[in-house]
Amino acid sequence: MSTPLRLLLVNGPNLNLLGTREPGIYGSQTLADVERLVTDAAATRGFEVRAVQSNHEGVLLDAIHAAREDCAGIVINPAGLTHTSVVLRDALAGVALPVAEVHISDVRQREPFRHHSYVSDVALVHVIGEGVSGYATAVDLLIDVIAGQADD
Ligand code: DQA
Repeated sequence: MSTPLRLLLVNGPNLNLLGTREPGIYGSQTLADVERLVTDAAATRGFEVRAVQSNHEGVLLDAIHAAREDCAGIVINPAGLTHTSVVLRDALAGVALPVAEVHISDVRQREPFRHHSYVSDVALVHVIGEGVSGYATAVDLLIDVIAGQADD
């Protein structure tokens, strides 16, 4: 089967509030800005994007499972679920697609409870603390991984 030219973009709980949520930490760009940035970055490499944001863990799991059918990789900012969710981690491991983990803020420099990620060892790409522009970096690095796998 040929590799589908589509990425799933997943944004976890509270990221719908981007733009107004703790702007000193997360900046002033909105979720719509993030989705546009990712869509544009992917388009320059010939990929489409399907974007999902939810405050409900099960909705995120269903979107990740569905990605098996028609996506080549997943860019995810799991938000607070990064630090709590075994089921999110299991979903990502279960679909076995390449994953890029993104955090807008530098979670390594914040409260100790943000230092552990359940997702990090199932992700091949990590972009942490580069602000919203980190999503575009993650797209590029993830597509490099996908292109490398297609060459194998
Ligand atoms: C975040 C960091 C998480 O610790 C936090 O719960 C978020 C956003 C980030 O993008 O910096 O909601 O993932």
